[in-house]
Amino acid sequence: MDGKTVLITGGTSGIGRETAISLAQRGARVIVTGRDAARGADGVAAIRQASGNAKVTLLLADLAQQAEVRRLAVEVSAAHPRLDVLINNVGYIDGERQLTADGIETTFAVNALAPLLLTALLHVPLAAAGGRVINVTGGMPRGRLDLDNLQAERGALGLETYSHAKLAMMALSYEQARRLADTGITLNVAYPGAAATAMTARMTPAMVPGWMRLIWPVFSLMMRDAPPARAARSSIYLATAPELARVSARYYDTNSRPTTWPAAVLDDKRRAQLWAHSMALLGLEAAHRSDAPVARSTTQPAA
Ligand SMILES: NC(=O)c1ccc[n+]([C@@H]2O[C@H](COP(=O)([O-])OP(=O)(O)OC[C@H]3O[C@@H](n4cnc5c(N)ncnc54)[C@H](OP(=O)(O)O)[C@@H]3O)[C@@H](O)[C@H]2O)c1
Repeated sequence: MDGKTVLITGGTSGIGRETAISLAQRGARVIVTGRDAARGADGVAAIRQASGNAKVTLLLADLAQQAEVRRLAVEVSAAHPRLDVLINNVGYIDGERQLTADGIETTFAVNALAPLLLTALLHVPLAAAGGRVINVTGGMPRGRLDLDNLQAERGALGLETYSHAKLAMMALSYEQARRLADTGITLNVAYPGAAATAMTARMTPAMVPGWMRLIWPVFSLMMRDAPPARAARSSIYLATAPELARVSARYYDTNSRPTTWPAAVLDDKRRAQLWAHSMALLGLEAAHRSDAPVARSTTQPAA
C-alpha cells in the first residue's frame, strides 16, 4: 500500500482503528475520522505506534450531520487529489429514536445516508486513483426493506432499526456500485462480525428483540471476547487484495468470502424507490436518480 492514500471513517477506535493499523503497517498514508479531538489524538498516536508509520492523520467530522460530511469531503478532496481507498466504517445504534440536525432519524442518517453522500462527494479523487470504496455493514441485514419505516417512524428498537438501516445501506451500495461501473471506482460491502468496541459496550438487553434477551448473557460474553482486529479482516482484504482491483457490487462475509446479497437488495423496484428517496433526503439532484445517468465530471453532485 506504499504511496496509497486511505480514508477510514471512525478510524480512531474499534474495528476502524484495527483496519487503520493494518493498512498503515503496509505503508499507506492513512486519514482517520472521529468526532472528538482528544479521542482522535489518542487514536492516531496508537495507530502510529502500532504500525510504525507516522503518515497517519485525523479529521474531525460528525457523520450524523450532512454539513459535516460535506465539509469532510471538501477537506479530503482539497488535500488529496487521489484517494485510493475509502472505508465507510462508522456505524450507529441507539435504543431511542433521535433526530439529527437535518431532522433525519440518526440510525438511518449515519448508517445509510452518510456513506452514500461521502462516496458521491469524493467521486473525483476516487476516480483519479481508480479507488476502492468499502462500506461496512452489521446487525442482521435481512427481511424486507420497509420504505414506510426507514426512519423508525413506527417506533425504534436498537438492533432492529440498526439492522434495517444497514440493509438500506447495502441496497444503496449495490445501486451506487452499478452507477460507478465505468468510472474505475469499485464499491463492495464487508461484514465484519462481532467485536468488543464502544458500540457493543453501549448495547443493552432493551435494544435487542425478546428472544435475544433470553440469551443475553451468552451474547454479551461473545461480544466482550471478540477482538476488533479479527473483525477488521474483511475490510482489510477488500482494501488490499490485488485480485479485487476490478471487482465491484459484491458482498463479503466476516471471513472475506463473497456471499449472496440479501434478497431485498436485489429487488430493483424497491431499491430504485429507496435510491430516489435517499437522494431527496440528501438534497441531491435528479441526475443521481436511478432513472438517469450519474454525472461523472463534478466533485459535488448538484445540490
Ligand atoms: N462491533 C461489532 O460487534 C460490530 C458488528 C458488526 C458490524 N459492526 C460495524 O462495524 C463498524 C465499526 O464498528 P465499531 O464497533 O468499531 O464501532 P465503534 O466502536 O462505535 O466506532 C468507533 C469509531 O466511530 C467513530 N464514530 C462514531 N460515531 C460517529 C459519528 N456519528 N460520526 C463520526 N464518527 C463517529 C468514533 O469516533 P469518536 O467516538 O471519537 O467520534 C470511533 O472512531 C460499524 O459500521 C458497525 O456497524 C460492528
